[in-house]
Amino acid sequence: MNTAQPETIQRLDYTVPSFLVDHIDLTFDLAPSATSVSATTRFKHNPASDSREIVLNGQDLELVKIVMNGRTLEKPDYALDHGELRIPNAPDDVTLVIDTLVRPDKNTSLMGLYISNGNFFTQCEAEGFRKITYYPDRPDVMASYTVTLFADKKKYPVLLSNGNLVDQGDLPKGRHFAKWEDPFKKPSYLFALVAGNLVCQEETFRLADGRDVLLQVWVEDGNLDKTPHAMESLKHSIAWDESRFGLELDLDRFMIVAVSDFNMGAMENKGLNIFNTRYVLANPRIATDQDYANIESVVGHEYFHNWTGDRVTCRDWFQLSLKEGLTVFRDQEFSADRTGSDSGRAVKRIEDVRTLRQVQFPEDAGPMAHPVRPDSYQEINNFYTVTIYEKGAEVVRMYQTLLGRDGFKKGMDLYFKRHDGNAVTCADFLAAMADANGRDLSQFELWYSQAGTPRVKLESDYDSLNRTLSLTLSQSCPPTPGQTEKKPFLIPIAIGLLDAHGKEIPVRVKGSDNASDTCVLELTQEKQTFTLVDVPEKPVISALRNFSAPVILEFEQTDEELLHLLANDTDSFNRWEAGQRLAMRRLLELTHAVRENRPLTLDKPFIDAFRTVLTNTSLDPALRELALTLPSETIIAEKMDEIDPRAIHTARQFMRKTLANALEKEWQKAYKNNLTDGEYRPIPQDAGKRALKNLALSYLLLCDSTDTCHMAIDQYRQANNMTDRLAALTSLVHSGCMQKLPEVKELLEHFYKEYENEPLVIDKWFSLQSTSPTTSIESIRELMEHPAFTFRNPNRARSLIFGFCHNNMAQFHAEDGSGYEFWAKYLLELDRINPQVAARLARCMDQYKRYVPSLRQPAERALKQVSKQELSRDTREIINKTLS
Ligand code: ARG
Ligand code: ZN
Repeated sequence: MNTAQPETIQRLDYTVPSFLVDHIDLTFDLAPSATSVSATTRFKHNPASDSREIVLNGQDLELVKIVMNGRTLEKPDYALDHGELRIPNAPDDVTLVIDTLVRPDKNTSLMGLYISNGNFFTQCEAEGFRKITYYPDRPDVMASYTVTLFADKKKYPVLLSNGNLVDQGDLPKGRHFAKWEDPFKKPSYLFALVAGNLVCQEETFRLADGRDVLLQVWVEDGNLDKTPHAMESLKHSIAWDESRFGLELDLDRFMIVAVSDFNMGAMENKGLNIFNTRYVLANPRIATDQDYANIESVVGHEYFHNWTGDRVTCRDWFQLSLKEGLTVFRDQEFSADRTGSDSGRAVKRIEDVRTLRQVQFPEDAGPMAHPVRPDSYQEINNFYTVTIYEKGAEVVRMYQTLLGRDGFKKGMDLYFKRHDGNAVTCADFLAAMADANGRDLSQFELWYSQAGTPRVKLESDYDSLNRTLSLTLSQSCPPTPGQTEKKPFLIPIAIGLLDAHGKEIPVRVKGSDNASDTCVLELTQEKQTFTLVDVPEKPVISALRNFSAPVILEFEQTDEELLHLLANDTDSFNRWEAGQRLAMRRLLELTHAVRENRPLTLDKPFIDAFRTVLTNTSLDPALRELALTLPSETIIAEKMDEIDPRAIHTARQFMRKTLANALEKEWQKAYKNNLTDGEYRPIPQDAGKRALKNLALSYLLLCDSTDTCHMAIDQYRQANNMTDRLAALTSLVHSGCMQKLPEVKELLEHFYKEYENEPLVIDKWFSLQSTSPTTSIESIRELMEHPAFTFRNPNRARSLIFGFCHNNMAQFHAEDGSGYEFWAKYLLELDRINPQVAARLARCMDQYKRYVPSLRQPAERALKQVSKQELSRDTREIINKTLS
């Protein structure tokens, strides 16, 4: 730790490795306070390099011995500094035996080898393998691995690593061993081991080609009743990748292991995926509909990495989106297909775009903005971002929009044909897509190299005489750190037209023979006009259907036009979008009114439109729920030059309360009509009903009657599933019923006692309080003193501290700066334990320069106070960039 500037790594400084590895043989003697690691590695000089120096990375290691081709090395045979071990003038063929000692019990960073609830786990992506042994810890060095694990049999009965189990047995003194061989060459970041007292659900599963594979889901004892959903999700993932992309599982055995202490969501280690328990464990008692859906998607995500990540990996970490953007796109498509309906697909698309806008758009407009393929970084772990993942997925989706599903599949086939077994770049992916389809996609490359969210302006002109509609599209992209000038992107804009009755008018571009309901215009210049022909009347334009590009569309449409789209658009995404735009218009106006102390009002046509959606029983409940959920406070903030978080909160609350009271009867009806009686099923149809019903409940709780509080209390008591129970309790706490009725406090205590032994539910208990606009900072401080709170467990830290700092706009941004002081204090505390998690907390302040002056000052004070301290490289990078 230091207060100095960390070194910046540049993408263009890439050089090929001087030595390649064909095999590594690893032996672990596992003990918490001293695990000895012996690595025997066969190196070969890389003919493409003119350096003869072997460069190995290492961090927090105790070097015991290093032997090269049978000879023990002593300094100056090698040099050791700045986390690198260098051996100059090495011959062509080198076998290195390196013995090191590591201390898993002292490892609170959760990178490398660490302990969670007494069991051993590893996390090596991005640069954790160097905390296990000295090795060229870079993804373009791919090797086959043999791993032998030795441990006490009673304490660690289960010993797992990548690939196939080739040997195991008992040893004297109550010890045992297991030997694993991974036949596929892999970079070190995909290495994993697990050792401990675990149990598994297992099944054999038949692949499309008739081969039987063994599938296992490993958990701590007592959790076997929570694995079936993950197992089902895995089987669906395998089948989906076979049918959609013709990609088969290449191993005889595929394992998922759940761990409670984990920095991120999950990790795609070859054949041995390691997951945050949050994305594995589920039963109706502890998991919500959202949890069930998340588990399916993350299980899918990690499984799909087996091809997009493991078989074909990244040349260097600047290419991270090559595997992440592509794999997120694949998991999104998987989840969409799994819903089994068009409206299910639309729901998934809306949710994904909502996340993009909520988190990625602000990132792209803030101090951490970076291209999908960044040009530089200080700490790579800071670049596991929504830009790399979610915007990266949008970039991949655009290929499919431009080339069609078949064209995209052809591109994927060529990508694997060319690069299977290799470490490649985003440019290689683009080339495969272009070559497979005979298209020049060179302009498309700008989506990888330019940061910032492009703005697209649309102007239309209808000519009734010639029955033509001209659409003028112009694009611009705001400057981002290090990039002031931007070139025009290739942007696919999907367009549809509706007539006065809400029917589709076929879209035909002048000079083309094809007409279709939705037409994809390719915007390539700064400004371009497209002429549509045979347009019999002035249409209502449905632009950027299904969100065909990750841009901000600026298109003036009247309330009438938006209402027409909301009522009639055949594109469900744009139907939802029209409703959001109607709401946003009013929310922005209301926020101004709050700031200027003007009276707040909401117009009748808007309330009527909401009523129409709410009572439209022909519309899928899940879609209605999305349409009736107002844009979040963060999304509203994104639209304002100067952010006044509490004014936004007040405006949005006013709108919710007004809609609650004006539509009370309709909400009541929606509540009653969407009860899901009988056995709990986490299927989209039921989940959609529950979502609408619980949204209705949250609106009803804003009406001025205590009856509805009792309704929610009954729901809590009678619920046979976590979704309904948590929704009731959350709404009760967030609405202020807690202040009115002492029962609510009792429920909160009941909830804690009832689930005391379910850490994932206790996380929910912390979150629902930390995100409540009714929870003061004093109550947050009290919660930090709660015996169940700890900084060491990332899920727990996130549920309370992140919940408050990231998702409690009303309280976090207190005028006196107390929220920011709280943030500074615990950021520093967390940084000493777990830099990766701390650096995420640091990002709460991303937007501080846009706050109103009364908040900007205390925010800056808190940032500067943090900046003066010793910080990890992770947190230092974020704080410096935020202040710069
Ligand atoms: N590759 C993993 C995934 O996307 C994420 C691992 C990130 N871990 C980290 N320490 N940065 O599924
Ligand atoms: Zn991933």
